[in-house]
Formats: sequence, C-alpha cells, structure tokens
Amino acid sequence: MTRTIHYSQKLSGTIKLYGDKSIAHRAALLNSMAIGESHISNFCEGDDKLSMLTCLRGIGVEIEELTKCCIGAQTCLNIRSPGTAGLHEPNSVLYAGNSGTTMRLITGLLASQEFFSVISGDQSLNKRPMGRIIVPLSKMGAKITGRQDNSLPPLAIRGAKLRPIEYHLPVASAQLKSCLLIAGANIDGQTTVHEPIAARDHTERMMKAMGANIQRKDSMIQITKSDLNTTDIRVPGDTSSASFWIVAATCHPNASLCIKGVGLNPTRTGLFDILTAMGANIRIENKTLEAGEPSGDVFIESGELKGIEISGELIPRVIDEIPILALAACFAKGKTIIRNAEELRLKESDRISCTVQELRKLGANVTELTDGMEIQGGKYLSGTECISHADHRISMTLGIAGLLSKGHTTIVGSEAASVSYPNFWDSLLSIQA
Ligand code: S3P
Repeated sequence: MTRTIHYSQKLSGTIKLYGDKSIAHRAALLNSMAIGESHISNFCEGDDKLSMLTCLRGIGVEIEELTKCCIGAQTCLNIRSPGTAGLHEPNSVLYAGNSGTTMRLITGLLASQEFFSVISGDQSLNKRPMGRIIVPLSKMGAKITGRQDNSLPPLAIRGAKLRPIEYHLPVASAQLKSCLLIAGANIDGQTTVHEPIAARDHTERMMKAMGANIQRKDSMIQITKSDLNTTDIRVPGDTSSASFWIVAATCHPNASLCIKGVGLNPTRTGLFDILTAMGANIRIENKTLEAGEPSGDVFIESGELKGIEISGELIPRVIDEIPILALAACFAKGKTIIRNAEELRLKESDRISCTVQELRKLGANVTELTDGMEIQGGKYLSGTECISHADHRISMTLGIAGLLSKGHTTIVGSEAASVSYPNFWDSLLSIQA
C-alpha cells in the first residue's frame, strides 16, 4: 500500500501505545512453560504477536484473545498451558512469519522437548542467521538442521534432554541470550551465559518474577532447571514504538506530545539518553514498576539538537531505533556518527543500507559505513517517493520523515508498519494539527 504524508505546521496530542513487543512475546512464551492459567493485559497488536501465538498453539497451549477486556488495554490474553512437560509435537510446520523473536526464543523451548518440530518464516525471516542459536543448542545436545549448512531457516528440530553448557555469546543479542536461558530453564544443572555487551534483559526480569532460579553477576547469567509459576502480566507500552513520536516532536519546530505508559527498562532507553545528550526536551512522569519492568508517561517538546557519536555499549540499547535516530540526526547541527552497528544489516532488512538509501532520497547528507553511517545534519529534507523495503521500522521512520520534510512524502509498502504497530498511521494523523 502507498501512503502520502504531508508536512505538518504543528504536532500535538496524547498517544497511547500497544504493549511492548519484546515483553509481550516473553509473557506469552514463559507463561506457556508454566502449568495453569495466566492473564496478559495490554498485549501487543501486530502481525509479529500472531506469529508467537500461532506457534504456541501449535504445541498445545490454549490461548484466548480478548479485546477491550481491561481498562486501557487493547488486547488481553488468557493462556492455559499444560506446562513444558505437557507440550506436544506440532502436526504441521510452525510458522513464525516475520518474527525473529518468535523463531529464536521458541527454538530454545523446542530443542529441549523430546519431539520433532519444524519452524519456518516469511521471505525475510528465512534469510536471517540462525547459526547463532544452532551452534550452542547443538553443544547442549539438540539436533537441529537448517538450510545452507545449518545457518538459515526453516529449521528441523529433533528435541532432546539437553545438557548444560557455559557459553560466551559471540554477538550482543537478546534473542540468542533468551533462547539459551529458555532452554536452560528445562535442563538439569547450571547453564551459564556470558554477554559481550548487555542486551535487553526482559527474559531475565520476567523469569525472576515467575520464580526461576536465575541470577546475574556482572556480564554472566546463570540458570538452573526451573518450574515457572504462571504470572499475570500487564505489558507496558512499546519503548521502540514510542521512539517514533519522540523523534517527531523533538525535530519539529512546533510540537508538544505526551505518550502514556511507556516501557522504561534501561536496556531499552538508549534513544532517550542519546537524544537528551543531543539537546532534546524529554520529561518523564508517573513512573511505576510491574513484573520487574519500569514504565512512565513521556512528555516531549520541540528541541534543538547537535550531532553526536553513537557506538559501543550504547548500540544494543538502541538497536531497533537506529533508523529513526538517523532521521533525528538529519535535523541536528553538525555531524552524527553511528558505529559498531553491523548487526543492523541482519534485521528484517539491511537497515544500514535501506536507511541511508531512503534518507538520501529525501535530500539528507548520509554516508554508509560498514558498521553504521555518518550523517551531516542541519539540512531541510524535502518530501519525495520512498520505499519501506517491507521493513516495519523503515516504513515508520519514513512516515515521521513525512511529517518533518517539506511538501509531501510517499511511502510505498507502508503496510509493513503493521508488523509491530498496526494503528501507527492513525496515530500519525491524530497528532497533525
Ligand atoms: C529482540 C531483540 C533484538 C531486537 C529485536 C527484538 C528481542 O534483537 O532487534 O527487535 O525481543 O529479544 P537482538 O537479538 O539483536 O538483540
């Protein structure tokens, strides 16, 4: 679908987000490992969440989706599971759609089940690297094969009683870390994972809240066999979805926005810290903590940004926000350099190359680097025709670019946004004065 977005004289209003995609995936998966019933409120909408639920149903978990069941929540779930030991072999291929989180996390569970399963994805997911999970799961004793010398999906998984390992993650990846911790929760003995740089820690927080034997010491996380307790969870608003509105209001000369109930886990708020260091006006109020996850209301006013260097330990904290951050850098005075972000080339699209390509069409001065990009800011952007590359975060970045660029911006393939944020375009229209 093609959409056209016009420059806005003013941006104002209040935005209510769907539940965070990463937390929602874990809430459904970890409760499916526990015996009994649980209730998840403010579950994320979007195609990716359906992928996780479809795969869980395929192995014997009963999941009921309810709309408008709790105040302030769009979708809730009732989950009824027989627990890990009662799951069964799926009778057809598990389909993870576009969702890397679904495939990588659930493979940790499937590998530790004594049955056979096959998991596949869409064109984009079937090109994403799975060797990173196959190698350690195989060391644990699982038999997993995949295309291209066991590196790509579909994956055929002959699950088994696994053995614990100590493993140094070769990349800072929350999906890989979570896959191994989920397997570890089903293994006798102690599984130890060392992270090179801290990636999002929702799995650890939620497992702890559900009674798992899990602890962290510096960059090391240890887990032993754990019977998780079902736990009702209210999912906070999606931090990554909030980033689009934060950048829109910051870079627009006449803007004031409020975003309610945003997840504020420090492993996710790199964008807040980076934009604040660049000069943004971001204020947080009404902080709360639920199931180990902090959240609060975020208020943003127009700001004047200056360029910055973004690299090293900051990268995993902002990994999904780099396309929208690159757009913000176009409006900053001076140069912004993004480095050490080569993982971005392995996301739903090659997000380094696609971001550079699309921002250039709008007139931005951006240079592609092997592991990031260099942006010379301070130029006006002018609307033109752009494409989403079937990537939700590129589609939404271009939508925000449309609000900020002179004239109008046409986004081909705008429907990709629905992977994580189905009402993104309605919210965008609602803040245009
Ligand atoms: C996610 C982790 C990140 C992120 C992805 C969701 C998760 O990937 O890019 O959108 O829910 O664990 P990594 O595995 O690179 O950390």
